[in-house]
Amino acid sequence: MVQNVASEMADLEDEDFYLLSGLEQGMRFSKWVARPKLPEFAELTDEEVEYRLDRCERRGLLERKTIQYEGFRLTFEGYDALALHTFAERESIEGMGAPLGVGKESDVYEVRSYKPLALKFHREGYTEFREVNREREYTADHEHVSWMYTARKAAEREYETLEALYPTVSVPQPHDHNRHAVLMERIDGVELARTKLTEKQILPVLDLVLDEVSKAYNEGYVHADMSEYNIFIAEDGVTVFDWPQAVPTEHENSKELLKRDVENTVGHFQRKYPNIVGEVDIDRVVDEIIDDELSAFAHN
Ligand SMILES: Nc1ncnc2c1ncn2[C@@H]1O[C@H](COP(=O)(O)OP(=O)(O)OP(=O)(O)O)[C@@H](O)[C@H]1O
Ligand SMILES: [Mg+2]
Repeated sequence: MVQNVASEMADLEDEDFYLLSGLEQGMRFSKWVARPKLPEFAELTDEEVEYRLDRCERRGLLERKTIQYEGFRLTFEGYDALALHTFAERESIEGMGAPLGVGKESDVYEVRSYKPLALKFHREGYTEFREVNREREYTADHEHVSWMYTARKAAEREYETLEALYPTVSVPQPHDHNRHAVLMERIDGVELARTKLTEKQILPVLDLVLDEVSKAYNEGYVHADMSEYNIFIAEDGVTVFDWPQAVPTEHENSKELLKRDVENTVGHFQRKYPNIVGEVDIDRVVDEIIDDELSAFAHN
């Protein structure tokens, strides 16, 4: 989806971005922005608006509806274009590269900057938005920007968490964020799920991962979505990524979430390497993390 936007970016003119950002502003007040309101929001003449609407609609950056009244709203592609434009203006990025990972809740791309970086577009709320949308076409106005709001909040939370944890915890270095997008260090590694560790590596790697969980806890955060899909393994160590759902340790459920993270992490190693990783006293590990006195498996 972003790939299309990337190829369109070069064709887009300043006035196209005025229109898109005017639409974004209008969407703070209603789900569909009425046509007559656009010149004011976009600071463009009526004729400019008409011309820009056609150009942006053809490129899939906005949607039009004509029932009841003529209204417009941004698509995710339009929102992507606004974020990319902002990063380009700030000189945070110079160009788009290949996809690094496309999930249900995010699209991650390599981008060109002074060095290759990773750009994660959050998509939280999008599926929900698609489903909810049909039924609530003309109802509850406070629901109208759910996907933009949800995705933007997720990106903000992820960026803030990375900022708080880097470099004490091994997480991607945060570089910039805007709207629903987070720009961060591109990690060169393989997801734990796709790694086959040698016998000698298994316990030391489990120790390294739990050590990051422990450091994060002692910096005030629980990841809350630890799995073999959110850990990179490389020659020089492990990196834990995908932090939008992290919770502060003051959170009332933080200990349960920490326990679940430990269970998920240890469980993966136990399933994959049953002969090496035996029974683990999860509660003990959790207590040691909370007391910041985690003992290692590798030397047991
Ligand atoms: N900093 C990074 N460097 C390199 N690749 C990355 C980076 N961040 C993410 N990726 C790739 O993109 C994929 C998706 O990223 P991430 O896990 O952060 O989001 P997600 O899995 O879609 O989110 P969720 O778990 O909420 O569905 C990862 O599996 C990974 O392959
Ligand atoms: Mg993930």
